[in-house]
Amino acid sequence: MKKQVLNNVYWVGKMDWELEEFHGSEFSVHHGSSQNAYLVKEEKTVLIDTVWTPHKEEFVKNLKSEIDLKEIDYIVLNHGEPDHSGSLPEIMEEIPDTPIYCTNNGKKSLIGQYHHPEWDYRTVKTGDSIDIGNGKSLVFVEMTMLHWPDSMATYMTGDNILFSNDAFGQHYALNELFNDQADQTILWNEAMKYYANILTPFSAFASKKIKEIVGMNLPIDIIAPSHGSIWRENTLEIVNKYAQWADSYKEDQVTIIYDSMWGATQKIAHKIAEDIRELSPSTRTKVLSVVDADRNDIMTEVFKSKAIALGSPTVGRSAITTVSGWLHFLQELKFKDKVAGVFGSYGWSGEGNKVLREELTKAGFEVIDDELKAMWMPDDEFLANTKEFSKALLDASSLDK
Ligand code: FEO
Repeated sequence: MKKQVLNNVYWVGKMDWELEEFHGSEFSVHHGSSQNAYLVKEEKTVLIDTVWTPHKEEFVKNLKSEIDLKEIDYIVLNHGEPDHSGSLPEIMEEIPDTPIYCTNNGKKSLIGQYHHPEWDYRTVKTGDSIDIGNGKSLVFVEMTMLHWPDSMATYMTGDNILFSNDAFGQHYALNELFNDQADQTILWNEAMKYYANILTPFSAFASKKIKEIVGMNLPIDIIAPSHGSIWRENTLEIVNKYAQWADSYKEDQVTIIYDSMWGATQKIAHKIAEDIRELSPSTRTKVLSVVDADRNDIMTEVFKSKAIALGSPTVGRSAITTVSGWLHFLQELKFKDKVAGVFGSYGWSGEGNKVLREELTKAGFEVIDDELKAMWMPDDEFLANTKEFSKALLDASSLDK
């Protein structure tokens, strides 16, 4: 059912409480999510985005309970991924002549997915606008690579609302809609997890775009993203956070990540955490099993960290596959300005550390020369001599550098 955002602007999306994963199984969802679509009812009626395909019938039914679909003058499609465009074919079956405003890449995405080249696409660029009456207009802002080539935001003058699509979103279901009514811990954790796992590779674009939007001097009272809470209190706090997050973000944290076959590598992992606590009590340490911890939560911890230590036993002259797979994901995210150290155990040949070092270097980490490598189970003598490694990791990742 619709909920008022402000004046004649309504939320008409899907509160997806049951969602457990997103982008296939790429992104874990712990607190539900939402696909936010908006209905603007000025002199012109505009639908901004739709919801994911599995919810298309519910979406259209709810929309019809509010308006006759024929009253929709324009559809704005900020982004072609199916979580926002999935109900478009259902709508277009009933109002096939309605103009669809999107970027040129958005048009390609929609045609590629739904095979309707005959729809009335109106492709737009940054600064293009449509008059919606009552002295208000919708101004389009290309958000290229945030996070797809076709991404776009739409700014509504008069009510000063930025419909930002994926940017500033979170996978978080909340019936109350607004950030001031949200559980603040979940809200900020989810906003950071979303940035860390989806937007980090595009940080250079994010920095540039934030400067561009700030430079446009648009009054922004509300940011209405396509997932999660709508920002209406301290609205620009999330924009400032994005500016920080896009700028090689790190806290005084070291995260130790490992997998272990028989507990030897695990033992080293916990000893590194102890050493760091002794050497630098103010530094937060976290020890995470790459198997037992949620992979996206691990990435959020990496995002916060100034350094990581990564451990694996040597298996088949390489790292264990759980760690190798995780490293592939790490490489996709293109973290910047972070330090890493490697450790592991082995029984005979011991190539694990070398492989971790190579892969972490490919992931963009500065890998320290020191490493910890134990044959069989680390004994007391081994464990008494691990501090040099932790000291080197701390020295290389000092926030004062
Ligand atoms: Fe929420 Fe990129 O789709």
